[in-house]
Amino acid sequence: MGRLEGKIAVVTGGGSGLALEAARAFARDGATVGLLDRNGEAVAATAAEIGAAAFPLVCDVSDEASVEAAFDETRRRHGRLDVLYTCAAVQLIGEDAPVHLVDLDVWERTHQINLRGVFLTCKHGVRLMMESGDGGSIVNCGSPTGLTMSGAGWSAYGSSKAGVMGLTRIMAADYAPHGIRVNGIVPGSIVTGLTQKLYDDPEIRAQLTAQHPIGRVGAPRDMAGIAVFLASDESAFATGAHFFVDGGISVR
Ligand SMILES: NC(=O)c1ccc[n+]([C@@H]2O[C@H](COP(=O)([O-])OP(=O)(O)OC[C@H]3O[C@@H](n4cnc5c(N)ncnc54)[C@H](O)[C@@H]3O)[C@@H](O)[C@H]2O)c1
Repeated sequence: MGRLEGKIAVVTGGGSGLALEAARAFARDGATVGLLDRNGEAVAATAAEIGAAAFPLVCDVSDEASVEAAFDETRRRHGRLDVLYTCAAVQLIGEDAPVHLVDLDVWERTHQINLRGVFLTCKHGVRLMMESGDGGSIVNCGSPTGLTMSGAGWSAYGSSKAGVMGLTRIMAADYAPHGIRVNGIVPGSIVTGLTQKLYDDPEIRAQLTAQHPIGRVGAPRDMAGIAVFLASDESAFATGAHFFVDGGISVR
């Protein structure tokens, strides 16, 4: 029997990267997974690949009406929510910068998706979780640039992630009495659509690799196991914590 047998999950950013790989892993472990992403084509392709265990939720996480509609659709289809994994985010490479150089537009686009998006998906997701009264598990994706290592040059992105990591702890305290656990994952540098521009530059690729004591950067599959663990009842005593799966970047 899978570790997530019978659970209904929603993963945001499910069309790509960490969330896509987590969605595959959740489905393999028995969950039914809502693939929430603004990229409809990517959602359709992933839903087709995963099959009956997946359902599409085309949604912009920065738009409350769109988020509410996605969780209404989850309620209509399955009547409950057990797991929410929030990954949808942007990192505006080439536009994010030290504070004195960041355009307000770059700041706002980043925060609207990365922080407001997590707030809105948690707001409507946790409401659906509370309706069943069976508790649940929320997992928010942070970043080393947020709180645990220098995010120099990433003013908008790093501060949005610091906000997410703070919100994770606050929500853990607020929802523990409801049996809803809230934890964070802090990945190292992972090769995905988000970071591809960085990896296209051989010099930056070498620098990023050197930052990881384990000797390589990560792949989305490196992050799937921790997501399944935190989604499952195996992590029943964990809440308000951040789990580092980062190739050792935080101990350098
Ligand atoms: N890749 C890394 O090195 C790395 C490192 C640390 C943290 N993270 C975090 O991991 C998470 C996943 O990142 P990834 O690398 O898999 O990124 P990715 O770019 O591969 O996937 C992000 C997904 O989010 C979706 N998305 C973006 N804006 C959206 C919106 N407004 N509404 C709905 N969906 C939207 C995109 O369409 C995309 O499918 C993010 O929260 C990111 O900050 C990534």
